[in-house]
Amino acid sequence: MSGKKDKHECQCQTGVTRRGFLSSVGTGAVVASAAGQVQAAPGSSPVLITGETVPVKLLINGREHRLLVEPRWSLLFVLREKLGLTGTKMGCGQGECGACTVLVNDEPRYACLTLAVEAEGFKVTTVEGLMNGEELGPVQQAFVEHDAFQCGYCTPGQVMAAEGLLRSNPTPNAAQIQAGMSGNLCRCGAYAHIFPAVAKAAELRRKGGQS
Ligand code: FES
Ligand code: FES
Repeated sequence: MSGKKDKHECQCQTGVTRRGFLSSVGTGAVVASAAGQVQAAPGSSPVLITGETVPVKLLINGREHRLLVEPRWSLLFVLREKLGLTGTKMGCGQGECGACTVLVNDEPRYACLTLAVEAEGFKVTTVEGLMNGEELGPVQQAFVEHDAFQCGYCTPGQVMAAEGLLRSNPTPNAAQIQAGMSGNLCRCGAYAHIFPAVAKAAELRRKGGQS
């Protein structure tokens, strides 16, 4: 899991970071009341009320979604609970397991650590977005061929991590595959099948003309 934070924590390349967003909405200048509302501290202007929503435009799997979201909602919550994209799984909810991995501008990110509002202006890809109609994408196909799962709960995240790895490095060696997949845990311990599946996926992608 070394380097996990660099790679997976929400630091969308050119966008707003989680920390940057919080300061942009004036979190540093507000105080929580006993009723759970947030009020402006004396001399400051921004006020954020618990439960308030803001409009956001998200591009997910090539489709634009206009939503009202609470600024505190994670991308994972919005994907699963508001858009019904339940392929992305909730595991630890705190950036440890990788079950929630999606691609943001082709890079693997933990959706549980990404605020939905941070994803605006970026291209989000979930495991559903790897399908070609009813056909599996090459990474999914390789995982099936290599039996690279047992319970399958971690599998969507593993597939997305592999997809992200192969989009940035179409010909990874064994060490690069292990490093690229190091942010994704498999409680069933299917690694002996997962790593060969990623190598096979690289081959299938090359044959399919994907680089
Ligand atoms: S659910 Fe996001 S890393 Fe575990
Ligand atoms: S297949 Fe069960 S957790 Fe990975």
